[in-house]
Amino acid sequence: MTDEPYAEIWEGGLRNDLREVIFDAKTIESKVVEIGQRITKDYADKDPLMLGILKGSYPFLADLTRAVNLPLTVDFMAVSSYGAGTKSSGVVRILKDLDRSIEGRHVIIVEDIIDTGLTLHYLRQTLRGRKPASVEIAALLDKKAVRKGKELEDMGARYVGFECPDEFVVGYGLDYKGRYRNMPFIGVLRPEIYS
Ligand code: IMP
Repeated sequence: MTDEPYAEIWEGGLRNDLREVIFDAKTIESKVVEIGQRITKDYADKDPLMLGILKGSYPFLADLTRAVNLPLTVDFMAVSSYGAGTKSSGVVRILKDLDRSIEGRHVIIVEDIIDTGLTLHYLRQTLRGRKPASVEIAALLDKKAVRKGKELEDMGARYVGFECPDEFVVGYGLDYKGRYRNMPFIGVLRPEIYS
């Protein structure tokens, strides 16, 4: 693995629950910096609100905001679209709303992964009703194949890190039953862990 300085910590242990690592820490870091540079350019002379969707976005939001050289502010929303399983329920609930009004603000929703797209579709609609100056999406992963041919195929996310294979992935914020979020890399869980 090329996950310096984490490599030693992640030999064995929880790492053994993965069938394979698909994005290592260095690969993620370079991509996040690249997205940060794009946002810095695109929002020059603006003070965007970077809106992290809890809990999965926390590592991405932390790394991404450090790669954006602008007077941005940060807020969080918590939504729930999944139960404890690995399939989308299609039901989106707001568990924690924003602390402040977004009227007139340039909002960038920061999300870990777009799967069915239901969560972001719902969120974007809700936020647009609150009169922001603009709403864009930054997602680290996009499971495009899942939405092929469906109404939600094009989520119109302005910033996407990687296209994600149609597998259940964990790490870098993504969880299975609340675990694995702390892994600095993203990998595919061994099927026997969730079957
Ligand atoms: P969507 O509404 O189907 O797009 O689901 C988005 C949410 O589902 C994400 O924010 C994740 O919390 C969760 N999710 C989707 N796919 C995965 C996965 O492969 N691993 C872990 N969580 C996932």
